[in-house]
Amino acid sequence: MQDKKPSTLIRIASFLKDRKKTIFFLLFLITVSQVANISVPFISKILIDSLTKFIKTGGTLPLSTLGYCSLGILAVTLVSNMMQSSYNYKLFQISTKTEDDIKNRAFQKYMDLHSLFHHGASSGQIIGRIDRGATSLYTILYDIIGQNFIPPIIIFIASFTALLYSNIWIALAILIPFPIYILATRKIANKIYLIEQKVNDAFEGVSKEMYDVAGNILTVKKFSQEATETESNYNMLIDARMIQDEAERLWERVENIQSVISTTGKVAVLGLSAWFVLQGTATIGQFVLYVTLQNMAYQPLSNIGSLFTRLRRNMTRVDRVFAVLDEPLNVTDIPGATNLPLLQKQIEFKNVSFSYHSDDQYALKDINVLIPAGSTCALVGRSGSGKTTFINLLLRSYDADKGQILIDGIDIKTVTQASLRSQIAVVPQEVDLFSRTVTDNIAYGQTNVTKQKIQNAAKTALAHEFILKLENGYETVVGERGIKLSGGERQRIGIARAVLRDPKILILDEATSHLDTESEQIITRATDALVKNRTSLIIAHRLSTVIHADKILVFNDGTIEAMGTHSELLHSSKTYARLHSLQFEEED
Ligand SMILES: Nc1ncnc2c1ncn2[C@@H]1O[C@H](COP(=O)(O)OP(=O)(O)O)[C@@H](O)[C@H]1O
Ligand SMILES: [Mg+2]
Repeated sequence: MQDKKPSTLIRIASFLKDRKKTIFFLLFLITVSQVANISVPFISKILIDSLTKFIKTGGTLPLSTLGYCSLGILAVTLVSNMMQSSYNYKLFQISTKTEDDIKNRAFQKYMDLHSLFHHGASSGQIIGRIDRGATSLYTILYDIIGQNFIPPIIIFIASFTALLYSNIWIALAILIPFPIYILATRKIANKIYLIEQKVNDAFEGVSKEMYDVAGNILTVKKFSQEATETESNYNMLIDARMIQDEAERLWERVENIQSVISTTGKVAVLGLSAWFVLQGTATIGQFVLYVTLQNMAYQPLSNIGSLFTRLRRNMTRVDRVFAVLDEPLNVTDIPGATNLPLLQKQIEFKNVSFSYHSDDQYALKDINVLIPAGSTCALVGRSGSGKTTFINLLLRSYDADKGQILIDGIDIKTVTQASLRSQIAVVPQEVDLFSRTVTDNIAYGQTNVTKQKIQNAAKTALAHEFILKLENGYETVVGERGIKLSGGERQRIGIARAVLRDPKILILDEATSHLDTESEQIITRATDALVKNRTSLIIAHRLSTVIHADKILVFNDGTIEAMGTHSELLHSSKTYARLHSLQFEEED
């Protein structure tokens, strides 16, 4: 129990910083409620003593004591219950607010993280992690600390203090079992902790697998792997349960130890109290009081062990959310970043190198290129030669390791990312759509766009006709990732998006390479309209689309091997000539 670093709890506490007043109020409520609670046995003691006195010695019936005591018990119980419900409600409020707070911060961080982080992480897994972590934070605040830790602690302190004044021996007898219990179960608790971590990993593995399979559900169905996937998932679950079982067996042992210790403690208090009564130093009322207080004080013991383990389990989950919050933002706006003025002259790459793995394996090496504004520039080369990386550096999806990228002489690292990206539109190989309407998808990222403008953009992108044929036209929800549309249709929505943005710089990254020839021709016609009067970067594997470019960059293994026009390159670049002859073979 001692090896858990306190930093998680401190960080959790930092989420409550702005709610100090509420927390003090909560503590006030619960203290009053619990003190009222434990005053009940004290009132009972007075009652019992006056009754036993009456039975033993006779005299007048202690009616007034009876009345006052009953009223007293009624009053304190009412106060205690009212304070308790008010405490519960306020605790619920503060816990859910904190839960939403951490969820929101983590989601915001997730949005802000650089693209490379998103390449390396499964979104489902991280969203699941944020979700579970936020729920765990709620569990820690409401359930573990708020309900199962603070109230029993107050009861314990209050009853112990009360006993210290009335009978120090009983007080000690109540206290002693706690250290014994902790010593006796410490080793097992540590073992359980280690196993619980494995259990956590195992269950996380199961859900990771589930996310993965669910994300690929259509592939699973195409290959008729439903039963296999279900079974393999179930087997993973069974394995996880087996590890969990081991922890549960240890729990059983802890419970036995605990019941032996607490029963011994109870018997000791019982015996001691009885002995005091026989000695004549305690009354029957005190006897009942001691036994009741002892019962109340021992309440927390019954779940203190599981409480710590639950606390740890949930802290591990919250920790994983903190890990997301701590993830460095590799691409940020520098302090005082300015807005990039609209492109007028040129885009320049100056000695640019970039590596994905921060070792010497460069995806791009020493790139020097000048692209005049208004020109069409084509990027060709083998798959994996660095074309997409080139585009992503221009977008600042990640920053170059060496060199500079300049737009009209301004280093793009010194301007705001928003002002840079607002000038660029990308139509990628796979246009991913939101599960929203066609209208929303075309207008994505823009506010106050008229329906007319959206339709015009769709017309330019040659998408208007097919959109009208959809079940609800422009108001059709396209399904997750646009699954209800064909590849060519998704692509044209992507182009309409770009048309609507009316960017200074247009990037087409193999926008047609997944399409059949007919769709490709439509897309090419649609993009022709878009390319006019713009600076365009076009990555295409079919040379027919690049022949007319003002400048062609031939990528080879992370370098630009040659650049020029089509006719120049046919002579000067072997790679280009080879690409050219390969395509002619294809077309024959
Ligand atoms: N997210 C990534 N993480 C690690 N390596 C990557 C990543 N993206 C691309 N690469 C590697 O960088 C090289 C260039 O890739 P890319 O620019 O996508 O090529 P192209 O677009 O020309 O096909 C390839 O070797 C590829 O494996
Ligand atoms: Mg690519």
